[in-house]
Amino acid sequence: MLVVLKSNYEELSREAARIVANSIRQNPEVRLGLATGSTTIGVYRELVRLHRDEALNFSRVVTFNLDEYLGISPEHPQSFRHFMTEHFFSHVNLQPRNIHIPDGTISGDYEKYCAGYEAEIQSAGGIDLQILGIGRNGHIGFNEPTSSFASKTRLKVLSKATVEDNRKFFGAGEKMPRLAITMGIGTILSTRRVLMLATGAAKAGAVAKAIEGPLTASVTASALQLHPDAIAIVDEEAAAELKQKDYYRDVMEMTALFTPGKLS
Ligand code: GLP
Repeated sequence: MLVVLKSNYEELSREAARIVANSIRQNPEVRLGLATGSTTIGVYRELVRLHRDEALNFSRVVTFNLDEYLGISPEHPQSFRHFMTEHFFSHVNLQPRNIHIPDGTISGDYEKYCAGYEAEIQSAGGIDLQILGIGRNGHIGFNEPTSSFASKTRLKVLSKATVEDNRKFFGAGEKMPRLAITMGIGTILSTRRVLMLATGAAKAGAVAKAIEGPLTASVTASALQLHPDAIAIVDEEAAAELKQKDYYRDVMEMTALFTPGKLS
């Protein structure tokens, strides 16, 4: 994994948006995998700015979101669809037909629905660049500890820790979803490039385990060590427990010298 250290959230967001914007400039029909969560808000803010100020064009970009709560309507303020509309979709020129988010209102044949979501990704040509956050328990998407590294899109039961972490987004006394539809670890490993973002001290433990710990289904982000082109962009607080920061700094410096634009 390539580890990019940034001094704060602002810089992290700008770097991630720069990589996404360059992928769009290189291929206007790029297929992006998108994530939700507070970590991603800065990236979307910066992409919206690039659309406004530098005419970054999303008209042919295709998007697939990682996950969605089950049993929540798209209009629900805590639905991931609502999050995406508020922070990103309503501010750029993405075509509605090119936007894909798992449907949290389905019932019945979940397996068929999830297989259909995978098939849509395949028929679009696969995901070129996948943005990811990381949960405090080391999850990516909603792939909770013990998720198979070979898993594809499916229904997952959320852990108590995840429900608690996300409670901040829900009203007091509001019922929290316990289930979600999420791309699997196998789906994420099949993408062409992954960008994992982490900010703040609360993520330091998960980040260290994901990047430097052993491969384990107990920390599903550690599966990214198997990805041929995974980049972790981490701010100072989230990097606090990494042991090899000096090495990552050397790599960043040498990469810039020998292969300028490697990250573009
Ligand atoms: C949820 C999402 C993840 C996200 C995580 C962290 O569990 N399913 O995709 O990475 O939250 O969220 P935050 O960025 O708010 O810490």
